[in-house]
Amino acid sequence: MKNLKIRKAKLSDVEAIHSLISYYADKNLMLARPRALLYETVREFNVAEKDGRLIAAGSLHIIWEDLGEIRALAVDPGHARQGVGRRLVHSFLAEAGELELMKVFALTYQEGFFLKCGFSSIVKEELPQKVWKECINCPKFPKCEEVAVIIDLANKSIDLSNKS
Ligand SMILES: CC(C)(COP(=O)(O)OP(=O)(O)OC[C@H]1O[C@@H](n2cnc3c(N)ncnc32)[C@H](O)[C@@H]1OP(=O)(O)O)[C@@H](O)C(=O)NCCC(=O)NCCS
Repeated sequence: MKNLKIRKAKLSDVEAIHSLISYYADKNLMLARPRALLYETVREFNVAEKDGRLIAAGSLHIIWEDLGEIRALAVDPGHARQGVGRRLVHSFLAEAGELELMKVFALTYQEGFFLKCGFSSIVKEELPQKVWKECINCPKFPKCEEVAVIIDLANKSIDLSNKS
């Protein structure tokens, strides 16, 4: 996509990130995130900007020395299926590599998308208990239909050049 810029989020992005997440949360496709949480975690967020407008966002949350999680990934519906989600995922994988964080997972309804991004499906219960901390606050817990996907950067070579 032309004029697409992937960058770290700023405090002034929080309102746009909040409305993007709320759009999907209202449709029960994502967990809602209050503004307070977004401000607290803004340094975990990367955003995609096109022509000065925020069109996608997501975060990389570190769980443990060898495990991170992609959370709150959302692409504006008007810009879906144009490679923006993959660019954001790749930006997180590049960051993970720099941090020496070798495994990154996501809990998602969009398994097909993550498989296209190089992830593999796993049984949720294989993830460590610490992962469930966020789930406990979810209204759907424990009857959740999200699936777990994971990528091991030590065993996978992915082109993270973000050129699409
Ligand atoms: C899921 C989501 C992030 C995908 O973003 P996107 O920008 O539309 O995805 P991309 O265009 O980068 O897609 C990359 C590849 O995955 C495929 N893909 C995208 N969404 C898919 C889906 N739901 N199922 C199967 N494949 C999908 C694309 O066709 C593309 O395949 P290709 O390599 O053959 O061209 C976006 O649709 C979204 O924000 N959904 C709602 C929120 C959500 O569920 N987020 C995930 C929370 S963890």
